[in-house]
Amino acid sequence: MSLNFPNEALSNMNSHPSTPDMLVRMLDSMTVEEKIGQMSQFFGYDEQISEHLAHSIRQGRVGSVLNEVRLDTVNELQRLAVEESRLGIPLLIGRDVIHGFNTIFPIPLGQAASWCPETVKKCAHISALEAATTGINWTFAPMIDISRDPRWGRIAESLGEDPHLCSVLGVAMLEGFQGEQLDKTGSIAACAKHFAGYGAGESGRDYSTTNIPENELRNVYLPPFKAAADAGVATFMSAFSDLNGVPASGNKWLMTDILRKEWNYKGFVVSDWESIQQLTTHGFSKDNKDAAYEATDAGIDMEMVSSTYLDHLPALLAEGRIDIQQINTAVKKILQLKWQLGLFDNPYTDASLLPIPMNSQHLQIAKDAAIQSCVLLKNDNDILPLSADSLNSVAIIGPLADDPYEQLGTWIFDGDSQHSQTCLTAIEQELSGKASTHYVKAIETSRSYDQTDFKQAIESAAAADVALLILGEESILSGEAHCRAEIGLPGCQEQLIDAIAKTGTPIVLVIMAGRPLTIETVLPKVAAVLFAWHPGTMGGPAISDLLFGKASPSGKLPVTFPRKVGQVPIYYAQKHSGKPATEAAFVHMNDIPVHSPQTSLGMAATHLDTHFSPLFPFGFGLSYMQFRYQNLQLSHKVLHLGETLTVRVLLTNTGDTYGEEIAQLYIRDLVGSVTRPVKELKDFKRVKLAAGASEWVTFELSTDKLAFYDRNMQLVTEAGQFQIWLGGCSQTGPQDEFEIVDA
Ligand code: NOJ
Repeated sequence: MSLNFPNEALSNMNSHPSTPDMLVRMLDSMTVEEKIGQMSQFFGYDEQISEHLAHSIRQGRVGSVLNEVRLDTVNELQRLAVEESRLGIPLLIGRDVIHGFNTIFPIPLGQAASWCPETVKKCAHISALEAATTGINWTFAPMIDISRDPRWGRIAESLGEDPHLCSVLGVAMLEGFQGEQLDKTGSIAACAKHFAGYGAGESGRDYSTTNIPENELRNVYLPPFKAAADAGVATFMSAFSDLNGVPASGNKWLMTDILRKEWNYKGFVVSDWESIQQLTTHGFSKDNKDAAYEATDAGIDMEMVSSTYLDHLPALLAEGRIDIQQINTAVKKILQLKWQLGLFDNPYTDASLLPIPMNSQHLQIAKDAAIQSCVLLKNDNDILPLSADSLNSVAIIGPLADDPYEQLGTWIFDGDSQHSQTCLTAIEQELSGKASTHYVKAIETSRSYDQTDFKQAIESAAAADVALLILGEESILSGEAHCRAEIGLPGCQEQLIDAIAKTGTPIVLVIMAGRPLTIETVLPKVAAVLFAWHPGTMGGPAISDLLFGKASPSGKLPVTFPRKVGQVPIYYAQKHSGKPATEAAFVHMNDIPVHSPQTSLGMAATHLDTHFSPLFPFGFGLSYMQFRYQNLQLSHKVLHLGETLTVRVLLTNTGDTYGEEIAQLYIRDLVGSVTRPVKELKDFKRVKLAAGASEWVTFELSTDKLAFYDRNMQLVTEAGQFQIWLGGCSQTGPQDEFEIVDA
């Protein structure tokens, strides 16, 4: 058997042999153990390569290593694979590069609030460049799970509740990671995760069961994955969760019937961390051997961390339960990605070919992204922007005002908090020589109940023209396995607001958090709320620029904010129901006369103890400018299936400075063979407008974009009547109607 594939591959470096030939020959020459090795991903051990890992690589039992991020170590791992294993196959080096590497951008949910694919793409591109300096060639992102439950900690890592927004931004993110070509220096492979339905876990608890009817799955949860597959995402990751009784990592219907057969996806699927082994914990397989069988049969090509493939595939093959063809298919795809990444040509990383991480350009983009992602939720009497020149004294209060680490958010393994610029530093700089500042942390952490320092905070606020409260959630309160049953401001933060409100000094509240928070009771006590998510390395300067009017807020919510957690799930694209909630039908329990007789007449889909509307709807976000939408025009009132509707509206910035607005196009399909949501986002555009300027904002809406999966799971556009809105939020904007007739 030939032992010189690497040399052959390297000697062909310049001639680039056709991939299939080279890979097919390589595959033919592999032993079963080597093939199964390619299907196995090992956990790295940081500074030192363990003897077990080194030995396994030499034996050809490792296809990929994750969580090894020291350049020297990674190059040494590659050397072991290329020079000391029989076939010299290089390694995939994986890492969770989620919203930055050393430079940390806003959490993905924050990036989604920018509604700006270009920004999301840039952030991912820089993340890839920085990660690549350590030899990482594969990230486990984008996470494109539709997330409609703010209790779920991983909503922070998501792109929000809407299939269209999530699809567009998910594609932008993967394109940013993968660059124009995977083998270009600084491009890394992306991974669409977690396939599928992981965001719908019962009661918002991580890893919990999901029950999603196929129609809902196809119309809501799968579209971002389909979009990622179509856009050429290199890999998929199977979810931890149980989907309708079949855990994703053993779900053949998902991995093979949908992904491979229906979507014709050619990349490979990696399991989530030990999720193959967990098939047994789920009660889906009886032991690890059975789990290995189910996962292979489902179409999981690579196993992350657990070793059921290494341990059991040889026996399963020998027993004829699985076929060598199944193994070959998986291995070919894995080799193919290595080839596409150029690893057979050069598996080593030379960091000097890449930009230095955290350079000024990276930091500037991090700041721009944070500016775009902040959402202004309230601004009474235009208290914002603050004018630095007309202030004498500003109180800066709160546990997140000056915490370089907590502003970064979840999933920041490699983030460098020493470079974080906090609100306190940025605001002090902004006000230097203009107004005095006084900082009081007031509460030790966002979760603390100790009110000892309230007194100082109250005194400082009382003496100030304005109190800037920087509150929210520490990073650790969101992210994987960090779910909450109550989603208000934690600890005694609301009591702090109460205490400061009593001073009469107006409060500007900045919230950093990994999820929507239920802040209904907070709102009346504060003059303004700027929701900054976890804004990343440059959060401070971004927030300061927004507070002092150097930039105008332009973020819009990618997810609905509930009034109370009992409203969850609450999302704009809800179905109407037979008794829809209306103002007329809504009765608060306090207004029901005692001993009222039981009746359902006139009743509707509401709660008795809270209004049915959300606190803030999807797509909402204020600006310092006023944007006027006028003169909605449709190219057709009636169009045939297959035609395209042109929709335009005249958008005017009626403010007195430059501003950016996100124009959002929604439709409602009034009658469907399966019921349709009351609104569906179909397109959007970030529009830049000078003071007083107007622009026609135009969208092309082909009838294909109105398609949905019907009762037979066919993708169809049905003729009929549609409503259409074009505005700055899911609940406002001029409206019209059109009709589609059969071709
Ligand atoms: C488990 C998480 O669910 C997944 O998203 C992540 O990529 C892997 N761990 C690897 O860290």
